[in-house]
Amino acid sequence: MKVLFVTSEIATLYKRGGLADVSYALPVALSNAGVNVSVVMPFYEGVGTRDVTCVGQLAIDYDRRRELVFIFRTLLPHSHVRAYLLRHPLLNNYDDAHIAERFAFFSKAVAQLSLYSASTLGGPYDIIHCNDWHTALIPLMMGESSKVAYRERETIQSQYAKTILTIHNLLYKGETGFSITLKLGFPKSVFHPFMTPLGRAVRLLTEGFEYADIVTTVSPTYAKEITRGVHGKRVVEIFKRRKDTIVGILNGLDTNLWNPSDDPALPVHYYPSSAIPAKAKIKEMLQQAVRLPKSDVPLFGFVGRLEKRQKGLDLIANAIKKLAAEDYQLVLLGTGQKSLVTLFEKLSAQHHNIAFVHTFDERLARRIYAGSDIMLVPSKFEPCGLTQMIAMRYGTLPLVRKTGGLADTVTDGKTGFVFGPYTSSALSAKMTEAISLYRDAPKKFSSMMTAAMKVDFSWAHQVKEYKALYKKLLQ
Ligand code: GLC
Repeated sequence: MKVLFVTSEIATLYKRGGLADVSYALPVALSNAGVNVSVVMPFYEGVGTRDVTCVGQLAIDYDRRRELVFIFRTLLPHSHVRAYLLRHPLLNNYDDAHIAERFAFFSKAVAQLSLYSASTLGGPYDIIHCNDWHTALIPLMMGESSKVAYRERETIQSQYAKTILTIHNLLYKGETGFSITLKLGFPKSVFHPFMTPLGRAVRLLTEGFEYADIVTTVSPTYAKEITRGVHGKRVVEIFKRRKDTIVGILNGLDTNLWNPSDDPALPVHYYPSSAIPAKAKIKEMLQQAVRLPKSDVPLFGFVGRLEKRQKGLDLIANAIKKLAAEDYQLVLLGTGQKSLVTLFEKLSAQHHNIAFVHTFDERLARRIYAGSDIMLVPSKFEPCGLTQMIAMRYGTLPLVRKTGGLADTVTDGKTGFVFGPYTSSALSAKMTEAISLYRDAPKKFSSMMTAAMKVDFSWAHQVKEYKALYKKLLQ
């Protein structure tokens, strides 16, 4: 069984968010579990590796021209996983107005690579594992490409290659004008366009739902939410027609990368048995570093994208109005939407118990994971979420909303705090409960910390489900 894992970002090479962490850790864990897996991603200028070899090239027809794409090979650090990087001027940068076209082009190159790849390129592949909207056109392309190839009586590997599409976030759909179908040179009839005020458009992610052999997402609860239409009705309609459903497989955590007993960013290391004194020291240093007064009130942490639609920052801003400043402290770290930056800058200037650090600083993030008492993850929706898992491994109790992967990983009153309705009063009530527990029942609080640290989120568990799915697909 040969698997090609296709993604727009991979931690260690190029990272923007949680997708990169999974795109590194899952293939490595699969490979450690004996699966023959390669990964492929664009060779952006920002890719942090020099150790690459050019192993071939592809001729891609795009926008009525023949484009040459160079294939480079490297290994994912600390693994045996081959990574293919595709170089072409269209793929130099991740970000700009033509992002949907860029990834449509990338997808065409990958489809071609997997169609004709000989063993020198790790193929022929049995399974093409696509991730998010960026790569969601590949299932459609594999089908169409193989039809074309069949007419021309060329080698057709894609007749055997199966496709999986994993949704990491349904919010981003890769919407673009219908002219993309012309540029790609595929028959219009294979797309599912819809009308917008600007004319006909397509969503790359939705095309993936139509054509992938299996669609998965990154937690069982998010899968259920999607199936019930919580995040949009269109998906539900498609799956009714397909007569199957979305499979939810919880993400794992890279327990080597996130380990409080040897994390180089931490001034003190600890195990569950030594967590309390070690964390107290780190908390003190953290308070100093972010200029919060030294105090023994519970310290809440937030690390993440400042994103209005998903991360529940509006709830935090309103919930704290209902709490007494002397009862708690709050440290937030992150970058993102300007209005939120302004809001939290203002709040931290007004309140001596709130610190906001407007940057992305991995070392400080790790200190917040370790030095806080409670980590806030009040997301409106959360396909899986990594923060709560890291927090638990570092002995910090997550306070989360009951949605998606948060609902699947945190148990209220045992390994963290869970609230239901997406309202600031539900959040402030839960924060008040956590504050009282910390103050009035320290024994219970610390036994919850130990319980949280002992939950096993390692990928070794999770890959079994992917392996089983791959096998099922090839039957
Ligand atoms: C996206 C989701 C997040 C998930 C991650 C990896 O970033 O928002 O919930 O953990 O992808 O799957």
